[in-house]
Amino acid sequence: MCGIVGYIGNSKASPILIDGLLKLEYRGYDSAGIATIEDHKIKCLKHKGRVKELQAMPDISSLEGHIGIAHTRWATHGKPSSTNAHPHLDESKNFAVVHNGIIENYIEVKEFLTSAGYHFISQTDTEVIPNLIHYYYFKEDENDNLRFVKAVKKAISYLKGSYAIEVISLFEPDKIVVARKDSPLVIGTQDDEKYIASDIPAILDHTNNIYILNDGDLVQISSKYVTFYDANLNVIERKPEVITWNSKSADKNGYEDFMLKEIYEQPVAIRETIGTRLIQGENCNFNDISIPKEYLSKVSRIYIVACGTAMHAGLAVKPIIERLTSIPVEVDISSEFRYRNPLIDKNTLIICISQSGETADTIAALKNAKQMGSMTIAISNVIGSSITREADYTIYTHAGPEIAVASTKAYTCQITVLSLLAIYFAEVLGTERQEILSTLKNEILELPSKVSITLENTELIKKFAKRIYQEKDIFFLGRGTDYAVAREASLKLKEISYIHSDAYQSGELKHGPIALIEDNITVVGIITDRRLLDKSVSNLQEVITRGAKTLIVTNQELDKQIFPDIINIPKVHPLLSPVISIIPLQLLAYYVSKEKGLDVDKPRNLAKSVTVE
Ligand code: AGP
Repeated sequence: MCGIVGYIGNSKASPILIDGLLKLEYRGYDSAGIATIEDHKIKCLKHKGRVKELQAMPDISSLEGHIGIAHTRWATHGKPSSTNAHPHLDESKNFAVVHNGIIENYIEVKEFLTSAGYHFISQTDTEVIPNLIHYYYFKEDENDNLRFVKAVKKAISYLKGSYAIEVISLFEPDKIVVARKDSPLVIGTQDDEKYIASDIPAILDHTNNIYILNDGDLVQISSKYVTFYDANLNVIERKPEVITWNSKSADKNGYEDFMLKEIYEQPVAIRETIGTRLIQGENCNFNDISIPKEYLSKVSRIYIVACGTAMHAGLAVKPIIERLTSIPVEVDISSEFRYRNPLIDKNTLIICISQSGETADTIAALKNAKQMGSMTIAISNVIGSSITREADYTIYTHAGPEIAVASTKAYTCQITVLSLLAIYFAEVLGTERQEILSTLKNEILELPSKVSITLENTELIKKFAKRIYQEKDIFFLGRGTDYAVAREASLKLKEISYIHSDAYQSGELKHGPIALIEDNITVVGIITDRRLLDKSVSNLQEVITRGAKTLIVTNQELDKQIFPDIINIPKVHPLLSPVISIIPLQLLAYYVSKEKGLDVDKPRNLAKSVTVE
């Protein structure tokens, strides 16, 4: 996934573009570049590495143009280098393009253009785009005032894959043409200033009047106008949305890292996500959706489909949905689900979870499910994100922008909103006694305060992080919902500390993995279900007798003689315990990464949203 920005207006473009790239660096950061139009030419500067290195280039300050585009890259085709960095120009240097996505047929397009006499300098798929636009531009009537838009339209019609592109041209130096398919793009407007970006936080300092583009949108932007065209190049009317959250919520607000800020935002994020969906003493109120009983009573199976942390949230809510609705729930990984011809039909309900709403595999899985006749619900944290435009229904978490690559507040908000959805389904179906539902609803209302309490208890976590940060392998064990949390805790540790980690069902260890346990290895145990307490304790004793040191996260009474390091968390209904038990383990991963001096917010090889397969 990459970050793209654009600007046209009365100010110098370069500082606005660089500032936008800095806000988008969580999307990809292995190289960056900028192009502006001035003195009748396109000036283009590119640099391998972070945006700050591009910003430090001596010629940046000499860019005087009031129109420009810029890009921060997560490499897909062609290694990170200044040559492969965007923007890419056509061979004649009359067009410049920045692109987020993948052109799947770029080899075919490159062969066509090469046969038409074009030459290429990079290893990227993107470089075919400006040359293809140049090719079609000179096929158009030179007096046609839509010549630029038409050339872009013909070029993207040839492309297969995903793209959000911004194009500038020396032939029409007062316009930017943009288009999107499967990759996000927004346009901000404020008087005679126009801002373009992959994501809202990049331009929110300048305006909160923002157009969120749909797939297939083709737009011509001047300093005065934003003109949307449909597939037949007819002008279509669109109104900008007014974004209510401010850019401060996308800043660090005094925290050292976005991840720590977002961990500590969880009480507020959960409260915002509950919102008006649950009011003391009332039924759950989901005005985002209206699923009739006659449909729900025929649902034979629910699939929860997602990737990474979002999939782990699905694992955590499978028990509560099954318990309250008596509908079997299967949790699947998007990249597997979309290719394995799942046995689904109109009686299967598909719930796709995606914080960014831009994860290619999850969007594709949802589209496939729709084609097979299933109803689809998207759970997303980004208003207007691609997945929300495909799903039959969308339920938003209101966690606020999640900038750190490692997802934390989105995870606990996904569990919260899906637990509410399980209660909503039970109330529609009438499958559960009121006292059970009331207990769970009261417990959900208490989650924000219990998360706050859990966040106060960090000394032992910091101490333990200092003990284990140089280890090579760390294991997480749990049963039931505790295993779902063990999976998420293990991912958190892996992705920001680069320490190998694995999660196992506690009862499964003796069927092989216990061979990995050796003297002084670290095993983290999660125990929150009283029913499984004895079994879980004996599983952990099995590793202790083989030399392991343990850290236990629990809301049960345990023998300190057996378990010297225990993090006590507030008691909560076992079906809701993942929201609480994950908190110390998010912090553990964070402090281990800090001990290793790593960039917690931008871990190597990762991007915030994987918009490619
Ligand atoms: C989470 O910490 C990871 N960064 C990653 O697994 C992420 O959860 C996954 O890529 C799914 O992203 P999404 O929720 O935006 O679809």
